[in-house]
Order: sequence, then C-alpha cells, then structure tokens
Amino acid sequence: MVLKRTWIHSEVLKVAILLIFVAFPGFFENKALCKVSFGVNYGKVANNLPAPAEVVSILESISVTRAKLYDTDPLVLKTFRSTNISFIVGVANEDIQSLGSPEVATRWVEENILAYYPSTDITAIVVGNEIFGGADTGLMSHVLPAMRNIYSVLMTRNLQKKIQVSTAHSFAVLTSSYPPSSGAFNPAIADSLMKPILQFLALTNAPFMINAYPFFAYKSNPGEVSLEYVLFEDKVGIRDPNTGLVYYNMFDAQLDAIFAAMGALGYPNVSLTVTETGWPSGGDANEAGATVSNAQTYHTNLMKHLSSAKGTPLRPNANLEVYYFALFNENLKPGPSSERHYGLFKPDGTKVYNFTFTQAPSGSSSSGATVPKVLGIVKWGTFFFTYVGMMGL
Ligand SMILES: *[C@@H]1O[C@H](CO)[C@@H](O)[C@H](O)[C@H]1NC(C)=O
Ligand SMILES: *[C@@H]1O[C@H](CO)[C@@H](O)[C@H](O)[C@H]1NC(C)=O
Ligand SMILES: *[C@@H]1O[C@H](CO)[C@@H](O)[C@H](O)[C@H]1NC(C)=O
Repeated sequence: MVLKRTWIHSEVLKVAILLIFVAFPGFFENKALCKVSFGVNYGKVANNLPAPAEVVSILESISVTRAKLYDTDPLVLKTFRSTNISFIVGVANEDIQSLGSPEVATRWVEENILAYYPSTDITAIVVGNEIFGGADTGLMSHVLPAMRNIYSVLMTRNLQKKIQVSTAHSFAVLTSSYPPSSGAFNPAIADSLMKPILQFLALTNAPFMINAYPFFAYKSNPGEVSLEYVLFEDKVGIRDPNTGLVYYNMFDAQLDAIFAAMGALGYPNVSLTVTETGWPSGGDANEAGATVSNAQTYHTNLMKHLSSAKGTPLRPNANLEVYYFALFNENLKPGPSSERHYGLFKPDGTKVYNFTFTQAPSGSSSSGATVPKVLGIVKWGTFFFTYVGMMGL
C-alpha cells in the first residue's frame, strides 16, 4: 500500500518535471549548445552533370536545404525557385575589379540577385574565392570595394539584413596555425587588407568565410600528421600550451586558428562560416589518404562532431554554417586527381559512398537550433529523472 502511494507520487513528480521542460524548453537549455547548419557546394566544373531540375531532387533526397554556387548561374537560380533550398552565390574572381564601379555593382545586383530573389532564397554573396591566399596580389585590393558597393546596393533595397556580403578564404591566409592560439594572418596582408575586411564584416554582421581542409595537411605530411587526428578519431588529443585546451581533431584546430587570428587583429567576435570542407575519395598515387573509405569516415565523423553542437574549444558558443565540398565529382577540375574526386555523388546521381546529413538543416535561419535544443532538454530531463530516482521518490 505504502509502496504504491510512493510510486504514484513519484510518477506525478516526474510528469510535473516533464511539463516544465515542455512548457519552458529554454529554461534549462544547455548554454554550450549552439546553432549548426549544413549545406553542400554545388560546383559545376564538369561536362557531365545532371540538369538542375534533377539536382533539386538529389538535394531533397538527402535533406539538404542549403547550397553554395560559385557563380549566379541563371538556369540553376531559376530552377530552384519555390524550393526550400537556399543559396550562397558567388562573384567570379574575374568580375571583381569591375564591381569597384557603383553603377556596375548596381547592375550586377539587379541582374544576378534581384532577378531571382526572393522566389529563390539567396542568403549570402561571396565576393571572390580564395584570393588572399593566392598569387594574384593585384586582385586583393579590389575585393573590399566590390563588397562595399554590393552591400550599398542591397541597402537601397533594404536587403542588407537578408543577404550577407563576404569573401571566401583558403587556409593559406594564415602564416601561423599551430598551436591554434598562435593563429595569425600573413603579415603581408594582415593590417592592410584583412583588418579592413574584418571591420566591414563586424559592422555588417557578416561571417568570415573559410575553406578548411585537414586533408591537405595530411597529404603534405602523412608521416607527421596522424590520420586519426584529421579523421576525428583521435582519442589522445593535442594540448595547446597557451590555452590548455585539448584538440581531438584538426578541423577544430583550424577553426580556432582563424578565431585567434581574427582576435589578434581586434575582431574576436566575427562569426565563421566554413564555405568548404571535404575529403577526396580518390587521388594520385602520391596523394596519401585519398580513398573512398577515408572520405566516408571524414563525412560521417564531421556530421557526428558538428551535430554535438559544441562549437570549438576556443569558441564553445560559436554558431557554424558548414558547406560540404562537394555535391558532385567534377571531371574538368584541373590539378591532381583528388581535385576530381571530392563529390558525394557521381555524375549519374549515384552516391560515391553511403552518407547522411544527420541533422536535417532548415531553410530558415532560426530553426537550426531545434535538434540541439531537444537534445539539451532530453539531457537535462534524463539528469533530473536519474536524480529523482536516486532520491528514491
Ligand atoms: C517547403 O517546406 C514547407 C514546410 O516544411 C512544406 O510545407 C513545403 O511543402 C515545402 N515545399 C517544397 C517545394 O518542398
Ligand atoms: C566580443 O564579445 C564579448 C562578449 O559579448 C564582449 O565582451 C567583447 O567586448 C567583444 N569584443 C569586441 C572587440 O567586440
Ligand atoms: C549503404 O547502406 C545501405 C543500407 O544501410 C546498404 O544496404 C548498402 O549496402 C550500403 N552501400 C554501400 C556502398 O556501402
């Protein structure tokens, strides 16, 4: 009799606690959980890819609702009208210089953005890809004026809060990246070029965009860099002597090197979008690690890692938008064989290896936190039930 009454009390208490979680999900939410969303790079340097209409179905079949283009291909942007898939689009490097003219920028925005937006959701414009890590130093000084002009045109349409303006960087913009806390931009561009860009990003609330490839670090030094570390399978970790933070994978270490480099220039709070990351499923004989199995492991573990929504060791609250490279194997990409083997899909639409985008991203920018939030509730809920159980209620 007594036992039964206790049991009833305990059930009532549990239900009451559960109701608190349901009614006030934000109340006990774990502060460390942050917003993460996934997309894919829709690169098209190939002559054998499926038509854009088929690409809509392919993206829908893998529940990906964000894609990134390197241009503003009219056929793609028209075809994706009224889908739930949003786009980051790009200004081709060869168009950047002319966008220093406000008139040209106005025409560019009208013809390449406003002609499709908002039926096609465009969330950001990337003004040039990997210019500051490259050899074409003549182009560097033209990037920020082009960004400013495009932003001004968006402002005249009151779209500056809907469409972000940034530029994407390769990891070569850093001359120091290890330990992560020592991250520093190349002194040749730091004060003269990166600082004004960071100032623009901070003022306009736009992200710094980075293409991060642990694969390159492994490929260039497979004897020193452990495969476990670049594939998120390291259990020991590497301690940053300056911060005491321990890194269990190179992806986090690369992101924190960027955060540190931005901080060193006075902009620690600019957010980060990973505009590219991925791993090739094939390569030349001298390209260590470029195998189907490693590519699959990298994707699986990246998804697992990001779904934990814990940010990075240095920025545990960092919201991240991550674009996988790439949707298709692109047969016309120049360079080593690995360049033509980054795809999740072959041109015939079959998967190169099994994969899933574990946390279905949402087209709306505010709902990316749903899964972490629910996980947070479940986590705290479990804690309370365990606690209640231990008290013998
Ligand atoms: C887009 O998403 C909404 C809400 O989830 C859904 O009702 C609608 O059918 C979707 N549209 C397409 C074209 O998939
Ligand atoms: C960065 O954000 C932190 C926390 O909100 C704030 O205290 C700090 O002043 C910010 N720093 C800069 C340079 O904006
Ligand atoms: C992919 O996964 C499915 C279902 O889990 C399985 O039947 C299939 O054999 C896998 N394919 C490959 C290539 O591993």
